[in-house]
Amino acid sequence: MTPAAPPNGRLAIFPGSFDPLTNGHVDIVLRCAHLFERVLIAVLVNPGKQPLFTSEERVDIIRDVFREYPNVEVDTFAGLLVDYARQRRATAIVRGLRAVSDFEYEFQMALMNRHLEPTLETVFMMPAEQYTYLSSRLIKEVFSLGGEVSGLVPPIVEERMRKKHEIPTT
Ligand code: PNS
Repeated sequence: MTPAAPPNGRLAIFPGSFDPLTNGHVDIVLRCAHLFERVLIAVLVNPGKQPLFTSEERVDIIRDVFREYPNVEVDTFAGLLVDYARQRRATAIVRGLRAVSDFEYEFQMALMNRHLEPTLETVFMMPAEQYTYLSSRLIKEVFSLGGEVSGLVPPIVEERMRKKHEIPTT
């Protein structure tokens, strides 16, 4: 028997580093917002990493990007994703799959998360083809070396990256 839907609708958690948010991430969130009543973008707070944007800055940027989407929420989390998902009563974890190269890591994570919390499903979604080569790591590298990133990240992200690197807007 299918369990009844939660009273506030099904919540999907889209977890990640989002340092920075790319148009590939935006594409997944919008697809996800069609499938689930609520989408929670969960920004990992990882004290071991030296990010470009602090977790507070990332939350701020992502909230700004999705300000017109009432069913999209943004929060931070630390520790195990399944613990956070339990606490938020999430129905599913959503992850984007870009290419075959993503598969092995994503498969391991999905099965480990299932081992830790068997009732929590991982749902994979494919972004639009034009974003399949995008990654936050490449965006940071290209931008720091003077390459063009417009069209690959939301304008708000590009603006904040310019500010970080103290590059005047053209
Ligand atoms: O954007 P990323 O860096 O690929 O996201 C990875 C993320 C945040 C989803 C993953 O590292 C994670 O879930 N970290 C939280 C700690 C955890 O639960 N680890 C076990 C995963 S099986």
